[in-house]
Amino acid sequence: MDIIEAARKYVEDLFRGNAGGHDAAHTLRVYRNAMMIQEKERNGDPETVALAALLHDADDHKLFHTENNQNARSFLASHGVDENKAERIIAAVNSVSFSQNRGKRPDTPEGKIVQDADRLDAIGAIGIARTFAYGGEHGRGPDDSIAHFHEKLLLLKDEMNTFTARTMAEERHAFMLAFLEQYARETGTEPAGSPENA
Ligand code: NI
Repeated sequence: MDIIEAARKYVEDLFRGNAGGHDAAHTLRVYRNAMMIQEKERNGDPETVALAALLHDADDHKLFHTENNQNARSFLASHGVDENKAERIIAAVNSVSFSQNRGKRPDTPEGKIVQDADRLDAIGAIGIARTFAYGGEHGRGPDDSIAHFHEKLLLLKDEMNTFTARTMAEERHAFMLAFLEQYARETGTEPAGSPENA
């Protein structure tokens, strides 16, 4: 079994039983997005991108009580990844978080790609589905979840690091705007539109 396959298996086991927004399926979509971006951009080391994408939520503080990326680090060490490469992977992992990195761009191509891949999974049809799933889990009704689109999701398109992700984001962004318009029509609420004309 190669290391990428081992990492997929590792996260599937790690997230087993976790049905929230940050589950194994999210990680696998981020991995898929990341590899698509990497292939088009031809930038960064593909194996570093793959492992950073697969391990990007392995030490998520909402789910795991680990310090210093302990889950990701022990996976990499136990699969013989040398220290330099492991550090590069961990740096990419740590540059992904939205709340911790607001306004900061990752300084490696791998970090930029994985951050974009994670953000793509927060918008479009999957972003809409995840937003309401997360809201429901936290006792919020549909109207409360709508605010999240304006506070965060509609801003992501312009925060992509790579050209490829920006292009992928356009379609997802347009879909969210169409959804919000239709939602406003059906519920008789004000069409909130994009933040610029709010
Ligand atoms: Ni994530």
